[in-house]
Amino acid sequence: MKVLISAEEISRELAAMGKLLSAEYQGKDLLMVGVLKGAFMVMADLARQVSIPVEFDFMAVSSYGASTQTSGVVRILKDLDQEIAGRHVLIVEDIIDSGLTLSYLLKSLTVRKPASLEVATLLLKEGIQRVPLAVKYVGFRIGPEFVIGYGLDYAGLYRNLPYIGVMEGDLG
Ligand code: PRP
Repeated sequence: MKVLISAEEISRELAAMGKLLSAEYQGKDLLMVGVLKGAFMVMADLARQVSIPVEFDFMAVSSYGASTQTSGVVRILKDLDQEIAGRHVLIVEDIIDSGLTLSYLLKSLTVRKPASLEVATLLLKEGIQRVPLAVKYVGFRIGPEFVIGYGLDYAGLYRNLPYIGVMEGDLG
């Protein structure tokens, strides 16, 4: 296991992102929406860096089918608990890879008429999104390597690592 982004680097970046969000959403009705499961850790740590009043909600989604090649069709396993019409919604993700999950979420939330809809992600894999996406808040831009830790799993494990790691050896 190689450390790609240390716990300290993540913590510094989320502190900066939290400060920026607190300034940009000042006086607005912010709702942060975490996308389970991966985003639970980013959500918890980013939340503690936001100094304005904010509400939280979660969605759980999964790609259809067992294929490793993502189909782009996303199934909502858990929807939001509340209406978002007129709310300032910020989707919080751990990673954007092909971008298909996010693309689906953006479409599905846009029709609910939020006052604004933006995205914050800890990691963005650079240059491989299959759809053009406007992601306003990005922690780290990374390459195509398979990353684990800090919410990200390999076969369900390693989400609890406090850093982002790369498994050595070829996992694809
Ligand atoms: C991960 C991550 C994003 C998605 C990104 O979730 O949390 O939601 O993949 O991939 P994409 O840009 O190619 O769509 P995953 O489906 O692994 O579920 P998990 O968070 O429950 O592990």
